[in-house]
Amino acid sequence: MRAWSDRVRREGERIALVPTMGYFHEGHLALMRRAKELADKVVVSLFVNPIQFGPQEDLAAYPRDLNRDARLAEETGVDVLFVPQVEEMYPPGFQTFVEVTELSKPLCGAKRPGHFRGVATVVLKLFNIVRPHLAVFGLKDYQQYLVIKRLVKDLNLEVEIVGHPIVREEDGLAMSSRNTYLSPEERRSATCLYKALLLARERVREGVREAPKLVEELSRFILSHPHTKIDYISFVDPEDLSPVEEISKPTLLALAVFVGRARLIDNMILEPNK
Ligand code: PAF
Repeated sequence: MRAWSDRVRREGERIALVPTMGYFHEGHLALMRRAKELADKVVVSLFVNPIQFGPQEDLAAYPRDLNRDARLAEETGVDVLFVPQVEEMYPPGFQTFVEVTELSKPLCGAKRPGHFRGVATVVLKLFNIVRPHLAVFGLKDYQQYLVIKRLVKDLNLEVEIVGHPIVREEDGLAMSSRNTYLSPEERRSATCLYKALLLARERVREGVREAPKLVEELSRFILSHPHTKIDYISFVDPEDLSPVEEISKPTLLALAVFVGRARLIDNMILEPNK
């Protein structure tokens, strides 16, 4: 991987990296296409990173299909599909981790201890191995995007971070490899995340400003759908993720909801003055 990158860099070409955990859907392909527009060469990394999963999480169940992923990447014009093995990324003796302390605390960080430390560590390793000029991340994982931007700034990394808008199914469900965990009935319930975001946007447009009041209404709405369990509903500042009580400026509404065993996330920036 390094030898390829060194050669491409020597030829003066720009490299874009799309870090993924595989099982590609349209969302991944959109990131790859964006990367192609922004650089001369596109590298997609495919690595189900064990250190970002908690002990009770879905590492073993995480869907995988390397042959299909390789075909889709090729059809999308990806130059290199980089698929390191766990023992190569974390050989015996591995003991260095990187932590973006504050941005990793709220939202998914509070619910998934160690998750963002695992993400930041693997992404820094991928940047050092692939040496991209830029990297594209999906904004469904909005907190991850902020964590990575902070990592790059704080450690003076020479890589530009590009956030790509959420890609949705026709009925609004944000695309995710984890959607494959849903039964047909759960799949119908799963649309409640996006519908809840739209409901909140509507209420804000109507003039509602109190976040706790909205949390109550959204919570009732989500729980009226079968098989749902709320992990969090949070209104936060889109830059530092601090809690917002009154929606008087652009505010991120972030949701994490279990639908059956699938933990789904979604988000939207609400703009009170639009
Ligand atoms: O968003 C993901 O798929 C992962 O968190 C990432 C960025 C590939 C790191 O493992």
